[in-house]
Amino acid sequence: FHVDLDPKEADRGAYPYYMLKEIDEQPAVLHRIQETYLENPAQPAIGADLLAAMKQADQIYIVGAGTSYHAGLVGKELFERLAQVPTQALVASEFAYADPMLSQHPFFIFLTQSGETADSRQVLVRVKEEWHAPSLTITNVENSTLYREATYQLLLKAGPEIAVASTKAYTAQIAVEAVVAKALGMAKQIANAKQFDLQHQLSLAANAIQAIVDDKEEIKQIAHDNLATTRNAFYIGRGVDYFVALEAALKLKEISYIQAEGFASGELKHGTIALIEDQTPVIALLTQKKTAGHTRSNIQEVQSRGARVLRIASQNLAKPGDEIVIPAISELLIPLISVVPAQLLAYYASLERGYNVDQPRNLAKSVTVE
Ligand code: G6P
Repeated sequence: FHVDLDPKEADRGAYPYYMLKEIDEQPAVLHRIQETYLENPAQPAIGADLLAAMKQADQIYIVGAGTSYHAGLVGKELFERLAQVPTQALVASEFAYADPMLSQHPFFIFLTQSGETADSRQVLVRVKEEWHAPSLTITNVENSTLYREATYQLLLKAGPEIAVASTKAYTAQIAVEAVVAKALGMAKQIANAKQFDLQHQLSLAANAIQAIVDDKEEIKQIAHDNLATTRNAFYIGRGVDYFVALEAALKLKEISYIQAEGFASGELKHGTIALIEDQTPVIALLTQKKTAGHTRSNIQEVQSRGARVLRIASQNLAKPGDEIVIPAISELLIPLISVVPAQLLAYYASLERGYNVDQPRNLAKSVTVE
């Protein structure tokens, strides 16, 4: 397939690896999404036909693979809270061969950076041929297969993503999901959507990411001290923090080959805590008021078994000694920024271990076989 590369954007410039460049680009990507879709902040521009089709939906199914699936998990929260539509996030390769009990008026959203993932396409084929349901592809690549074959399409506007490990496409996917959820919620006159100042929140997120990447030396040091030699590691969190933990662990696995797991912090004690040994790194995400205290209890449980704990906490919930403190923005959109320290930790862990960050073994940027 063919990808249009803007030669300027595809240029690595002074960066040693594309991944670092792409992490740094995330504030600019959020601004581009604002310019594209939020010229009128109260009424996101996603197209009248798409909006009308989505208003009919009694259930939204978000389909993706890998990092895109993880962005779909965050999207579930956005669509349920801002638009009040029950939403599921689904792993494409599983759903492609499942026998689902679909709702009466399902609406399918395909998240795919490349627009070429065969597993996702297989689901789209069933959506059209078997289930006759409307679909929206949100992708970074115009005219890609999933772009062409869906009923509706929106672009991520992230610019070419070259590193195999996806970073700016993940944050762009979350931001565009928020745009669509806000638009749908406004159209349905949902109070939460009206009150949610998406434009402002995206500006806050862009500034926050900028502050984190400006301070990347600090994260480099943390990676050096904690991830240089370990065999395994855990990310833990609850709710959307858990969803980010899954993505954070995937980043670490992909490029540093550390065996990493993202775990629901409360579930750890029901078996997996057996794996915690002296010095096992456990990285906790603490950005949700309702659950941060409970996750702190789980931190104590692993600490007493010898874990080396690192905390990524939002400013309003941070305690003295928390290693990485990030600005507090809306709890719904904070995955946009809480994932960034994890992206940087993965990047520096990979460098520290001497690997090719952009081209990890066994992985491809786009997987066109099922
Ligand atoms: C491959 C890539 C992952 C990506 C996944 C889905 O496995 O290595 O980084 O998340 O495909 O790709 P897509 O293009 O559909 O988002």
